[in-house]
Amino acid sequence: MKGLVLAGGTATRLFPLTIVTNKHLLPIYDRPMIYYPIATLAGMGIREVMVIVGGKSVGDVVELLADGEHFGLDLTYRYQRGALGIAHAIGLARDFVGNDAFCCLLGDNILLGPELEPLAKEFEAGPWGAGTLLYEVADPQRFGVAEFGPDGNVVAFEEKPANPKSNLIPIGVYFLRPDAFGVIEGLVPSRRGELEITDLLNHYLPGSLFAPRFDGLWTDAGTVPSLLRAAELAEQESADGNLTPPPPRPVS
Ligand code: DAU
Repeated sequence: MKGLVLAGGTATRLFPLTIVTNKHLLPIYDRPMIYYPIATLAGMGIREVMVIVGGKSVGDVVELLADGEHFGLDLTYRYQRGALGIAHAIGLARDFVGNDAFCCLLGDNILLGPELEPLAKEFEAGPWGAGTLLYEVADPQRFGVAEFGPDGNVVAFEEKPANPKSNLIPIGVYFLRPDAFGVIEGLVPSRRGELEITDLLNHYLPGSLFAPRFDGLWTDAGTVPSLLRAAELAEQESADGNLTPPPPRPVS
């Protein structure tokens, strides 16, 4: 399996913190935000990872992550020319992915807790076209939101609905196969001008989407309150001895 981390976008919800810098460089407790998804992929045993970069301070993101050797990864980069959507960013990885299954993580999602490798393996060996992980939140209207059918299975996702149909959201973990690129080609931009990840996931619903719950700690870090919450979670995990120290700098 290959890995993909999305680190583009404009991060307007974090202004003025992100007027002159890239959100993914902001500190979460003792390390830059992007270290978390990078370490999550490394912990899954994935070695080849592409980072989609865009927005501010792209050179600093590359300088920080370098060739990935200090994470045990082999990193490559691709530039996204605007905040054209999560599905658009994924589409840029087509040549890199080739014929492999891949795991895409959002660069502002912090996962603490169980490794994702068993879930990735289950997806890869299974019949599903795509996968994501569900998590219960108190404020679903600011995320994608799952709608369930009478049998308890997900039937659709809705992006940032005014009236959420559940409290369960697809977090920024996507298990995909190369056929996703053909689906992305057929997507049309939403009202906010983005190719939406929920539209890509909906292509596999009902019936062909792997969507177990994530039973670790999760938060995004794309708003001021969630940025603070992410730091508090990381501090607690560190105090409990569950956070391995970050590699201090690229191998030179
Ligand atoms: O955090 C989980 C949620 O993430 C999901 O529940 C939603 O379905 C999904 O749309 C997304 O919602 P957000 O509004 O939080 O996404 P945001 O625009 O903050 O982007 C998430 C990450 O993806 C962020 O690290 C930047 C990156 N990104 C985003 C866009 C729009 C890109 O690399 N390129 C882009 O064009």
